[in-house]
Amino acid sequence: MEFRSNLTVTVRVNGQSRQVQLDSRTTLLDLLREKLELTGTKKGCNFGECGACTVHLNGQRVNGCMVLAASIEGAEVTTIEGLAGNGELHPVQQAFIDHDAFQCGFCTPGQVMSAVALIKEGHARSPAEIREWMSGNLCRCASYPQIAAAVAAAASQQGDR
Ligand code: FES
Ligand code: FES
Repeated sequence: MEFRSNLTVTVRVNGQSRQVQLDSRTTLLDLLREKLELTGTKKGCNFGECGACTVHLNGQRVNGCMVLAASIEGAEVTTIEGLAGNGELHPVQQAFIDHDAFQCGFCTPGQVMSAVALIKEGHARSPAEIREWMSGNLCRCASYPQIAAAVAAAASQQGDR
């Protein structure tokens, strides 16, 4: 792809239309963090290996560090900042709190965004399935048992198990 330094890209982020100037090398992750100041989405590896940057792109979970912002003109993006509504946490966020599913919290936004998506996908029907479909999200604090329990509880609450 030819490098261009002054592209204009318009995307809907958490329900709001946002127009940004960027260069063609900018990732969706950097667009969110550096241009829109949505720093809830974390940069861990920046190589598609840790899942800390997971967001929803047109309803599908993606690693934001692996998506070029220039390729998503007109897309709908949801970040961790867009999950809660009407002053209430999303049920998955609440389940993470209820199950102590984090320690340092660095991986948590990505874990929560993955969990919301996998429950919607119908991939939370057993502990083994949850572990498999959450396996793209690493946790250096090794809170995996609590994370899996939180996802199972949220799925069960939403009637998906
Ligand atoms: S920061 Fe994107 S997968 Fe690690
Ligand atoms: S809670 Fe620390 S990396 Fe997951």
